[in-house]
Amino acid sequence: MTAQLRWPSVAGVAYGGDYNPEQWSREVWREDVALMREAGVNLVSVGIFSWALLEPKEGVYDFAWLDEILGLLHDSGVAVDLGTPSVSPPAWFFHAYPEARVTTREGVIMGFGSRGMASHASPVYRVAIARMAAALATRYADHPAVVMWHVHNEYGVPVGEDFGPQAVEAWRTWLRARYGTLEELNAAWGTAFWGQHYDDWEHVGAPAATPTTPNPAMKLDWARFTDDALRECFRIERDAIRAHATQPITTNFMAHQSWNTDLWKWAAEVDVVSDDHYLVGQDPQAHVALALSADLTRSVGGGKPWILMEHSTSAVNWQGRNIAKRPGEMKRNALTHFGRGADAIMFFQWRASRYGAEKFHSAMVPHAGPHSRVFREVTELGADLAKLESVVGSGVDAQVAVLYDWESMWAQELEWRPSDELQFRGQMRTWYERLWRDNVTVDFALPTHDLSAYRLVVAPSSYLVTADAAARLTDYVRAGGTLVVGPFAGVVDEHDAVHAGGFMAPLRDVLGVTCEEFLPLREGERGAVAFADGASIIGDVWQEDLTLAGAEVVATYASGPGAGGAAVTRHVLGSGQAWYVSTRLGVEELKEVFVRVYADAQVVPPGYPEGVEVVTRRVGEEGFSVVVNHRDEPATLNVTGTDLLTGAVTDDGVLEIQAGAVAVVRLGSHHQGGGS
Ligand code: GLA
Repeated sequence: MTAQLRWPSVAGVAYGGDYNPEQWSREVWREDVALMREAGVNLVSVGIFSWALLEPKEGVYDFAWLDEILGLLHDSGVAVDLGTPSVSPPAWFFHAYPEARVTTREGVIMGFGSRGMASHASPVYRVAIARMAAALATRYADHPAVVMWHVHNEYGVPVGEDFGPQAVEAWRTWLRARYGTLEELNAAWGTAFWGQHYDDWEHVGAPAATPTTPNPAMKLDWARFTDDALRECFRIERDAIRAHATQPITTNFMAHQSWNTDLWKWAAEVDVVSDDHYLVGQDPQAHVALALSADLTRSVGGGKPWILMEHSTSAVNWQGRNIAKRPGEMKRNALTHFGRGADAIMFFQWRASRYGAEKFHSAMVPHAGPHSRVFREVTELGADLAKLESVVGSGVDAQVAVLYDWESMWAQELEWRPSDELQFRGQMRTWYERLWRDNVTVDFALPTHDLSAYRLVVAPSSYLVTADAAARLTDYVRAGGTLVVGPFAGVVDEHDAVHAGGFMAPLRDVLGVTCEEFLPLREGERGAVAFADGASIIGDVWQEDLTLAGAEVVATYASGPGAGGAAVTRHVLGSGQAWYVSTRLGVEELKEVFVRVYADAQVVPPGYPEGVEVVTRRVGEEGFSVVVNHRDEPATLNVTGTDLLTGAVTDDGVLEIQAGAVAVVRLGSHHQGGGS
């Protein structure tokens, strides 16, 4: 998978954030570096939005200010992750090359005055970003402050797609390479439907605004094309830097929030994986989404340590209600990322901007200045991270894999599905939360990965399953693995065409069941699911009419359109077992399924009190458990070892953890698990 992951040369846990010195005076710069030292900051990302200052006129460069700030940072012991500013071309660029602007699906050409990349397909944009990356790399390849390169910013947002003429031209080239002939394209897209047959490449357009739903196979390919085009832009800059400089190169991902970018493919292109994560303030369990995001980031990077490139010290500014973090929350967030493999903890941004669109976004130095709760907590976090050097480089223990496929997400979220309430991300989050509450740590994977090391493979939302992927899952189970699959699975192939043989046809061998008809529920409708042993739970949104093909029925529908039919099945195949869950269940309801699945898989949840998150990093024989108490009350856990943050030793095997507190325990040899 990932060719070579290389860590920037920063000692211990890297700590810092985005730093935008161009918004401040020299006097503030001097205060900044003094405060960075006070806070324990050792790495900042500089220059991400600086194109207009670095190249004030086409071909005229001004690096003097950057030289100065890099020198100042270096003298202060702060290393630099140097950005390339391709996400924010200057006004002169769009004036000189108006054709580089992005066209929306509706045909609106977007103007200047905000941020977001130019058209990924624009030849002049591609030339300009290569030139800028090369100019920076030539100048700073050997600068002692620069330990890493940060290409662009969050590919795919705020805009990833472009529907302008240059993009359509690139799209046709991409399609020719993929299909070779129009016959192949017509077959793959099923253009016999609605008379969409093409007999000239020039007639193939983008899936822009259409009178009604566009061809889904075309849209799915468009998502693949957009992802590839964005990655081409990344490669252009990466290779321009690599021609001159040797430091590791990254770009910041957005894990579970990434829509346009298939991070399995992206991770193979970077030297080190980095990620941005922001809490959704409305979500009272936002820390669960955080854990998911962290596990996904680590997984796309092949389990290696990764960089938390951005998170927030308190509120963001771009949600409807921007909820401030309460005391201790930032530390819980940061150390959860750390526990799940992040060896660098960074924020957006160092100092709050006085002007511009993000002036209400929190920062390490807030508008209130250093004499503030936030800065005190930032400084405390810096001191805590400095105690964790021995954990750096370790991996994370996981016996369970969760399948996560961007292509399947793109396909599932196309228009005109049986129910738009059954969604990829929602299903992923709910099933993940079940595992999270049970303190069962997971990796994410594709079905085509080697899954043999996992006791259990969980597929919450696998709508698109290729024949190859299905064969791999079948082999995994036959060889002794346990698989549990959520509703609306194995429905279509790589072209979003229903599998020949019907819904779930490729999963028939492994699951011992297929689906004859989907039975979505009306809004607010629910359906009871009764287990043979008397247990009963309620599902919503969705039921299915299943046809058994070797599986046993574990639970049946007691009400709803599927009443009397199978709801949950289990199939013994070779030395393994495969489960199918054909309705939508909440986190609580899933307990009834998972308790049985865990038993099959011989996965034993550690039994820690619910709401206390424990994740263990391991290097060789040594283990470190990061314990985060999300509850409003203290808890005791059976954990033996030394808390690296406080020095407290729990040699009696009982760790007491206060409400909202975090411990990082270097584990002793005793038994772990359980508590109250
Ligand atoms: C993103 C961007 C940052 C900043 C933050 C605000 O992650 O990368 O530049 O806009 O959002 O939350």
